[in-house]
Amino acid sequence: MKKIIVGISGASGAMLGERFVSFLLKNGHEVHVVISSGGAAVFQEELDIRDLKKHYRNAKNLYLYAAGDFAAKVSSGSADMDAMVIIPCSMSTVGAVANGITLNLIHRAASVCIKEKRPLILVPRESPLSPIHLKNLLYLSEIGVHIVPATTAFYHKPKSVEEMVDFTIGRVLDLLKMDHELFTRWKGKLGKR
Ligand SMILES: Cc1cc2nc3c(=O)[nH]c(=O)nc-3n(C[C@H](O)[C@H](O)[C@H](O)COP(=O)(O)O)c2cc1C
Repeated sequence: MKKIIVGISGASGAMLGERFVSFLLKNGHEVHVVISSGGAAVFQEELDIRDLKKHYRNAKNLYLYAAGDFAAKVSSGSADMDAMVIIPCSMSTVGAVANGITLNLIHRAASVCIKEKRPLILVPRESPLSPIHLKNLLYLSEIGVHIVPATTAFYHKPKSVEEMVDFTIGRVLDLLKMDHELFTRWKGKLGKR
């Protein structure tokens, strides 16, 4: 069982955050979720979900924090968290994290992960990317933050949006060293014969 902080910001792709949290809960991990006001708006817009607590009812290992709650457990480096994933990650949140600005608890928890040298994974979504976005993402990658773009591959021949989303989630789980069967791995051409 791992203790994972999940930041959900206001980028398109609420399904990524929703399915990622569901996977972690189903697999017995302790999940600490912070959703920004933008994230909440996109959840409502794209998934018609207004209340995360209600949505994940019966989840015993789920902890939800308000984005403005800087006194929350995950705000401190002394909390024994294993990793943080921001999924989906807006360009605003990318900019804040890259520049050490902590306007909400997602930024603060990410800043803590960086200073404690704990795994931090961002799943950014924007298109096209401006030079500002690219510079921020490059800088974060250079200091050890994993950047997993919210894009799918096609070699596993996805048949639904869920399968496309699960490819990205699977790549995040690979970085967290969690077993999953969310997509069929490429085995090389010889493996197909
Ligand atoms: C429906 C919708 C989709 C959005 N999609 C994106 C997106 O894909 N990427 C992005 O960077 N911002 C997107 N935004 C804008 C962000 O929500 C906005 O910049 C917000 O301030 C981000 O704040 P946050 O990072 O604190 O959540 C979207 C907004 C809405 C309402």
